[in-house]
Amino acid sequence: MRRTFVVGNWKMYTSPSSAIELATAVASGVGGDDRVSVVLCPPFPFLAMVGQVLRGSKLALGAQNCYHEAEGAFTGEVSPTMLTDMGCSYVILGHSERRRILGEPSTLINKKVHKAVEKGLKVIVCAGETKSERDAGQAHEVVETQLRDSLHGFPHDKLNQLIVAYEPVWAIGTGVNATPEQAQDMHAFVRQQVAKVIGEAKAAELSLLYGGSVKPDNAATLLGQADVDGVLVGGASLKADQFLPIFRAALPF
Ligand code: PGA
Repeated sequence: MRRTFVVGNWKMYTSPSSAIELATAVASGVGGDDRVSVVLCPPFPFLAMVGQVLRGSKLALGAQNCYHEAEGAFTGEVSPTMLTDMGCSYVILGHSERRRILGEPSTLINKKVHKAVEKGLKVIVCAGETKSERDAGQAHEVVETQLRDSLHGFPHDKLNQLIVAYEPVWAIGTGVNATPEQAQDMHAFVRQQVAKVIGEAKAAELSLLYGGSVKPDNAATLLGQADVDGVLVGGASLKADQFLPIFRAALPF
């Protein structure tokens, strides 16, 4: 059985007080329900305080990025160990905003993936094509290449620490989500590609998340696709009254 995930990526939003307020509202809405894994990924400075709110709850804490060394003279960077020390169990790596705006190539993301996994974090590795790549018929090739390079050498005995997110760049923050058919098509493709490396049985167990304008009104249909095992939510994760209906849409009937 694949685990279902609802992950909130708060990006560079919230303040100390609104982060606490949001985490408190989400935690109380989720309550003791652990049929779905809910992960909140606040900005680095708020990890500790959000972690405090989540203590004793069923929700997990995640970060939006990390560096690929355990420690050292790397001004401005945050190590995987610092994240686990703060109570994080997840980290998002290879988000398209980091790939495009911060210029992170898959080779760098691969180093981060290895170090984060070695230090015990579960990694949510993202891939997705731009609009022009999709229009040019290159979507599958782009996603395949990003994932192959980002996941190169992933330790087979740590596959329970791997989650993959398909996030078409053209759907992120635009209000235009991939259609359920587009999401399912790409997720099935991703699972096939992963199966080539880790075998079909293991690939069948991998949780594949969809991200890109997930909202309360489209979550259920997206989550209803055979190979969509969860959602990575940006904008709608910033309001409990939008995030909680998405969480409820992910619950089994
Ligand atoms: P969005 O962001 O839900 O605001 O489109 C998704 C993401 O970037 O993870």
